[in-house]
Amino acid sequence: MSGPADTVPSEPVVPAHLWQPIEVAGRELANRLAVAPMSRVSTTGDGVPTEQMRDYYATFAAGGFGLVITEGIYPIGPGAQGYADQPALVTDAQVAGWRAVVDAVHQAGGLIIAQLMHAGALSQFLTATVGPSVHTPRGQKLAEYGGSGPYPTPSALTQDQIDQIVAGFAASAALAAAAGFDGVEVHAANGYLLDQFLTDYTNTRTDAYGGNPAARALLAAQVLTAVRASTGGRLIVGLRLSQAKVNDSRHRWRDEHEATAVLTTVAAAAPDYLHLAGEGRPWTQSGQAADGTALGPLARAITGVPVIVNGGLHDPALAEEVLHTGQADLVSIGRGALADPHWPTKIRTGGPTREYTDDMITPSASVQNTMDFLRRTDPPTRQAP
Ligand SMILES: Cc1cc2nc3c(=O)[nH]c(=O)nc-3n(C[C@H](O)[C@H](O)[C@H](O)COP(=O)(O)O)c2cc1C
Repeated sequence: MSGPADTVPSEPVVPAHLWQPIEVAGRELANRLAVAPMSRVSTTGDGVPTEQMRDYYATFAAGGFGLVITEGIYPIGPGAQGYADQPALVTDAQVAGWRAVVDAVHQAGGLIIAQLMHAGALSQFLTATVGPSVHTPRGQKLAEYGGSGPYPTPSALTQDQIDQIVAGFAASAALAAAAGFDGVEVHAANGYLLDQFLTDYTNTRTDAYGGNPAARALLAAQVLTAVRASTGGRLIVGLRLSQAKVNDSRHRWRDEHEATAVLTTVAAAAPDYLHLAGEGRPWTQSGQAADGTALGPLARAITGVPVIVNGGLHDPALAEEVLHTGQADLVSIGRGALADPHWPTKIRTGGPTREYTDDMITPSASVQNTMDFLRRTDPPTRQAP
């Protein structure tokens, strides 16, 4: 079959690892391929997932991804919303909207996890923001998400506000369970609130949440513990970490000592998986701390749970190598999946895949673009694992 002009041929990959099923917290995933969380902010202002979003998310499962992780969803609690038109898990209507998405993904044969995200000081939407300490974020707001100019300077969270935020994550996780999700992923990556706590230059607190890497990881661990308690073993509970941030792609954990302190602190809260994101950088670069410590194997050893890694892994040979060499248990694909939600099945059968181009990042156009592309191409049949 010759594909449309915007697709490239792929060689069928016969890997030993990519297509192997894996169990995460007692649930079987059909293969080692997850869709990375990608904010598409395409609700109509009320935070309620639309029918278009239902169809959009289901296409990834139909295309062979064993796991779909949603875009960042804002939870109950003050200052959480990151973007206009971002979906939420706060109201009954939002739960009902997500239930339709979840059912569609399940019918297409995939599992789906809700990513819960508190934007903190990096909100593109709020004018009064909160963070660990009073530091104006680096960089400028994201134009493609409706932001412009510098970020406002956040106010430092009080203990009472921190408690409300922890409770908010837990309450929204319970709503995720009510919507039928298979799990929740706590977003502590990419520069958003929990990562602001993790990072030395945004967190200069002198209380229990600051002063050293383990203290800076405390809030992420507390959120994990609260989420697990509120969902009572009904959901997979994962955690996403990254070194780099949307507003600082160069940041690195200093060394093995810092990485070990962070990973040990969050491991004590017993996540079911860890997801290491390569925000803005490929995994081949973002998989090491500044001193060269390889983070995938370290995370696997310290946590003892499946580790998902991410960043430029839509090259199937590279993805296979990452699994084969023990750097991770699963890989997540972001832009490659956005460009072609049927990437797994096409890679497996040698069909042409569509390449990511920068214009696809525009949220309003992107979901429609993805759906239009799929309408133009043959829907593949999901392969048995
Ligand atoms: C359009 C877009 C939206 C994103 N939104 C989120 C998000 O909501 N939550 C998150 O943790 N990461 C988000 N990311 C980061 C991706 O999950 C991923 O880490 C990044 O794209 C690198 O992976 P890739 O090289 O496979 O694209 C987003 C990335 C893109 C391109």
